[in-house]
Order: sequence, then structure tokens, then C-alpha cells
Amino acid sequence: MRGKFITLEGIDGAGKSTHLDWLAQFLARRGIKVKVTREPGGTALGEKLRELMLHGNVRLHPETEALLMFAARREHLEKVIVPALENGAWVLCDRFTDATYAYQSGGSGVAWDKIAVLEQWVQHELQPDLTVLFDVSPEVGRQRGKRGKTADRFEREEKAYFRRVRQAYLRRAKEYPDRVHVIDANSSVSTVQKRLEDIFTSYCSITS
Ligand code: TYD
Repeated sequence: MRGKFITLEGIDGAGKSTHLDWLAQFLARRGIKVKVTREPGGTALGEKLRELMLHGNVRLHPETEALLMFAARREHLEKVIVPALENGAWVLCDRFTDATYAYQSGGSGVAWDKIAVLEQWVQHELQPDLTVLFDVSPEVGRQRGKRGKTADRFEREEKAYFRRVRQAYLRRAKEYPDRVHVIDANSSVSTVQKRLEDIFTSYCSITS
């Protein structure tokens, strides 16, 4: 049976990475084969792009960023995501296309419709089966993001930028109410995990 395509989203500092590890273990305990991957990243090209975009010292035009994201996404779908799904694994992807709407369109001003053209071009009808949006205020995100690491290109943006990113994520959630589950991630890790557990316990029982 084809696996499920799960994506995790949220502004920087929302706590995605912590919850992704927890979720991978939760699913593995239920006997589900899990493939964890991320964007930008997941393939040789994607990881190079990640390095260039996040830590390189060239500032790219936002439309160039969007184009590169989708070029890498094409590769990621072909080489990693689709084969894993066909192999019956559940793919847990740390960010996907909702992030391009949120960051390149919401944050950096690329036309929403241009992202939609690229989405259609690269994905056709393919959408994640389920997306969790960890929703935090930019203030909370910034506080959490600061801990112990050097800020990358996006993390250095202003609060107003993250406000726009967050609004664009919420717009996507409104457009796809069945797919996108919004979790208030301002609360404690254990409260968020309880919500995740509820969502996935019911999702696993519907799909098995
Ligand atoms: P992130 O996932 O937060 O990784 P880490 O936890 O290691 O910091 O970083 C990825 C960054 O890439 C994030 O700031 C958002 C950005 N991004 C885009 O701008 N557009 C995209 O389409 C994707 C997938 C990510």
C-alpha cells in the first residue's frame, strides 16, 4: 500500500524539529515504515541549495529563490519522496511547498499566482496527505530560535517579515482545511505533543 505524505510547517522557532523526531518515533512504534527528509534538502542538489540559500553570502532575488526551491523539489519528488511512498513508507518532510508560499510569497513578495504556476508545473495534483502547521507568534519564534546557534539568512529577517510569513501559512491552512492541521505551538512541548498524538492517532486509525 502507498505510504502517506506528511509535511511539517511553521515559522522559524516554531519547534518543528523537536516534534518531527517525536512523530517519527510515534509512527515507528506503530509499525509504520518512516522516511524523514527535509526542504531545502533531501537530495544532493537540495542540500547544496540549502547551503547556498541559508548560509551563502549571495543575496538572491526572491523569484530566483522560488525557482530554485521548485527545481530542487522536482528532484526531491523524483528521487526520494515518490519512491518512498510507493515503497509503502510514510514520508515525514520538514517543510514543503507551503513554505515557498509562506516565505517567498508572504515574506518576500513573490506573486502568489507565480508560486501556484510552479506548484502545478512540478507537482501536478500531488499534495501532502496531511500537513501540521505549528503556529507561533514571531515573538515566541524569535526567542526559541536564538538558542545556541548562528542565525541563517531567514532567521535574520525582521519581525514584520515573520508576521507576513505566518499570515501566508494561515492563508494556506484556510485554503486546505482538510489537509492542514494548525496547532497552537506557543504552549509547552508536552501540550503540543498531546495535540499531535490526537491528530495522528485518529489519522492512523482512519488510514489503516
Ligand atoms: P529550517 O527548516 O528552519 O531549518 P533549521 O531548523 O535547520 O533552521 O530552515 C529552512 C529555511 O528555509 C527556513 O527559514 C525557511 C526557508 N525556506 C524557504 O524560504 N522556502 C522554502 O520553500 C523552504 C522549503 C524553506
